[in-house]
Amino acid sequence: MSILNEKKALIFGVANKRSIAWGIAKAMHREGATIALSYANQSLEKRVKPLSKEVEASFVEECDLTDDKAIENLFNKVQSNLGKIDILVHSVAFADRDDLNGPYHSTSRSGFQLAMDVSCFSFTSLVHHSLPHLNDDSSFLAMTYYGAEKAVPSYNVMGVAKAALEASVRYLAVDLGPKSHRVNAISAGPIRTLAAAGVSGFKSMHNKFAKTAPLKRNVTNDDVGNAAVYLCSNLASGVTGEIHYVDSGFNIVGISKTIKED
Ligand SMILES: NC(=O)c1ccc[n+]([C@@H]2O[C@H](COP(=O)([O-])OP(=O)(O)OC[C@H]3O[C@@H](n4cnc5c(N)ncnc54)[C@H](O)[C@@H]3O)[C@@H](O)[C@H]2O)c1
Repeated sequence: MSILNEKKALIFGVANKRSIAWGIAKAMHREGATIALSYANQSLEKRVKPLSKEVEASFVEECDLTDDKAIENLFNKVQSNLGKIDILVHSVAFADRDDLNGPYHSTSRSGFQLAMDVSCFSFTSLVHHSLPHLNDDSSFLAMTYYGAEKAVPSYNVMGVAKAALEASVRYLAVDLGPKSHRVNAISAGPIRTLAAAGVSGFKSMHNKFAKTAPLKRNVTNDDVGNAAVYLCSNLASGVTGEIHYVDSGFNIVGISKTIKED
């Protein structure tokens, strides 16, 4: 039996094959879910449409998540094409490159607002607008990173946005719990994607990460996809408001054995 049989999953954030959202879409499709995809803008259409065929997604629609009207229109289309959904995945983030470099205190007001809007508020707005379009016992999933809880070089405003996103997950879990809907996030280790390329020094952090993590390797978008299947399935029926690490165990390490003494 496939774990997500008869579930419909609406997934935001596929930009290309490296996207974490793509790992999630593949894993959910493998486990029997009907997949629907939404991408940010027209320039991504030529990449996302061919990928959608691999996961048999018939619903593939553009939606800029900074625009509430666009979100409302998207859910109207979801309703008429798919009916009610069971799973919503938010795998979306954005910050100006200039704000992912240098000291955090030099973040501009507009850069702060942009990062917060795309990377945090859009999840709350999606949850809000999706409510009339959910089956019973639905599940929401957002993507976060360790930089939400510890200061990570150059992650800067994105760390602050992820901290707010993680707090949102808890508040939304309390809001939606009485309706039996669950809200969780995965805190993924570093993965080489378009979004990650914007963080100054990412490559060196990626290399150091694998040396420090207990599993001695970096995670893949398939690792994240498999955990996403569990969190959005009935197997996780008692789990909500959680930040679940898929990071080769990096977060449990205090002092790395690989650090050489002077
Ligand atoms: N790659 C990593 O190391 C890593 C680690 C932990 C968490 N994450 C998180 O995973 C999520 C997915 O990122 P990724 O690494 O797969 O990179 P990615 O670049 O493949 O995905 C980011 C997605 O956000 C979308 N997006 C940006 N602005 C948008 C908007 N206004 N409306 C709609 N969509 C918009 C992009 O089009 C893209 O599809 C993000 O939340 C990211 O912060 C990434």
